[in-house]
Amino acid sequence: MSMPDIITINHSSGSYCEVSQYGATVLSFYTAAEPTRNALFVSDKAALDGSKPIRGGIPLVFPVFGPAAGFPNHGFARTSTEWELKEINMHVGEGEDPSSAQFSLEANDVTRALWPHAFELVLELKLYANKLTTALHVHNKSDGEISFQALLHTYLSVDDVRDGGCQVEGLQGLEYHDKVTGTKQIEQRSAVTFDKETDSVYANAPTEVVVRLRGAQGGADRVVTIAKNAFLDQSTQPVEQKSDAVVWNPWTEKAKGMSDFGDDEYLRMVCVEPGRVSEFQQLAPGHVFTLQQTIHVAKL
Ligand code: BG6
Repeated sequence: MSMPDIITINHSSGSYCEVSQYGATVLSFYTAAEPTRNALFVSDKAALDGSKPIRGGIPLVFPVFGPAAGFPNHGFARTSTEWELKEINMHVGEGEDPSSAQFSLEANDVTRALWPHAFELVLELKLYANKLTTALHVHNKSDGEISFQALLHTYLSVDDVRDGGCQVEGLQGLEYHDKVTGTKQIEQRSAVTFDKETDSVYANAPTEVVVRLRGAQGGADRVVTIAKNAFLDQSTQPVEQKSDAVVWNPWTEKAKGMSDFGDDEYLRMVCVEPGRVSEFQQLAPGHVFTLQQTIHVAKL
């Protein structure tokens, strides 16, 4: 098996990001402010050879979230080898304009065997100095309505998740499905912190989730803002759609059960995942659904 290509997108500010052609998985985001630190977490044990989904970065979840009969976990987008780089534009010189890239996946024999619909997914990246936008566009190219879940499975790098070292704000008051206990809850906390396995699906979450990260051993604190939204038909009049946020940390026991994740790596990551997963998204023929996030990293 040949190693999937890794495409690097550079920006004149010094920021860059890398994307594996396998699953069009974003692997890294180095900001201009911190060009030696990946703001995204990738496991030291992640398989990058295309043998399994990449444990880290931003895997794309489509057309199902989690286990679903007849599908690999989280669907086929993140393990597809058929993604093509369609366009790449590097920003040079001064100014605020982004560098950009587009990857596309069209229905093929592998996807049709799992999901009998004509579609195109386009992953559009826009890279700024300290900001990265990833948009997943779902084009319905079939004759009938399609129905799917979609999610940007963003792994953020954390110095130490314990003792309030990672705080996720913006979810208070929302109903969430606690997948660990299998219960519905209302989020009481103004800041979600981590001291056990966490796997929560916040339905219809607001646009902005703020992740405060404490630097280890006197290192810099950081604030990562994830602004998400979902809409239909960007080229005409975009129609806002609801979207959710998933917060995940496997903690100790789950970590030990994952062959592509170190036993202690749960300390160094948190997943904050914008998606449309609490309900299936319906999409009429000829229409486009977009799920997008902008990750902004500020070093304090
Ligand atoms: C999260 C789910 O999005 O992904 C978790 O909420 C799941 O339940 C996690 O365990 C990782 O999934 P996978 O397939 O990458 O191990």
